[in-house]
Amino acid sequence: MREVERINPDCRCGGVRISASQANSRVTHKNHRYAFDVIVARDIKNLALVGFMGVGKSSVGRQLAQDLEFEFVDTDEMIELETGMKIPEIFAGAGEDAFRKLEAKLVADSRAWSNKVIATGGGLAAHGNNLEVLKEGSFVACLWASPETIHDRTKHQTHRPLLRADDPLGKIRALLESRESFYKQADVLVSTEQRSVREIAGNIAHQFRETQRV
Ligand code: S3P
Repeated sequence: MREVERINPDCRCGGVRISASQANSRVTHKNHRYAFDVIVARDIKNLALVGFMGVGKSSVGRQLAQDLEFEFVDTDEMIELETGMKIPEIFAGAGEDAFRKLEAKLVADSRAWSNKVIATGGGLAAHGNNLEVLKEGSFVACLWASPETIHDRTKHQTHRPLLRADDPLGKIRALLESRESFYKQADVLVSTEQRSVREIAGNIAHQFRETQRV
């Protein structure tokens, strides 16, 4: 399945697939009127989850993989496997830039993948053109939570080098703000506040299946 698709980058309720013949028209979807000004040739074969640390990408991703009967992969785990090092060791030894290069390589590789649910590290979508490349082969859902919720969920964990700060909540707020414009370019934004993993996964699986119907 390969076709011309136009997506409103600010859309919060999912990308809209339209035919090439509709390409220059304005289309109404739900309550949104779109001035389609972005054209992306896409061949959606995977489902990727992006979003900040602690929003639940791994839990929701595992549930989605089960629902869609896809393989679950996690970019952090793949990097740890490839390097034989834990993420904090990579940050401390080789540095964050080296880690981002490993992420970018995986994103480039993902264009050849199919039938995978890809949980990404929290910074992956906010670096370079990773999100753009990821979207070439994957429907991208961004999971969302407030800084306070993220802080609550992560405060007793120690495996995230970027949150080892004197003021973790302040760090979360600042990082989230700097990444927000990237995250909002996902095909769909889904709040994870006060909703179960099953409910969130069900919602995303539905939207993913819609992309496979055309
Ligand atoms: C990072 C998020 C982490 C991991 C690394 C950097 C980030 O992944 O990739 O510590 O920059 O937000 P999780 O989002 O799975 O915690």
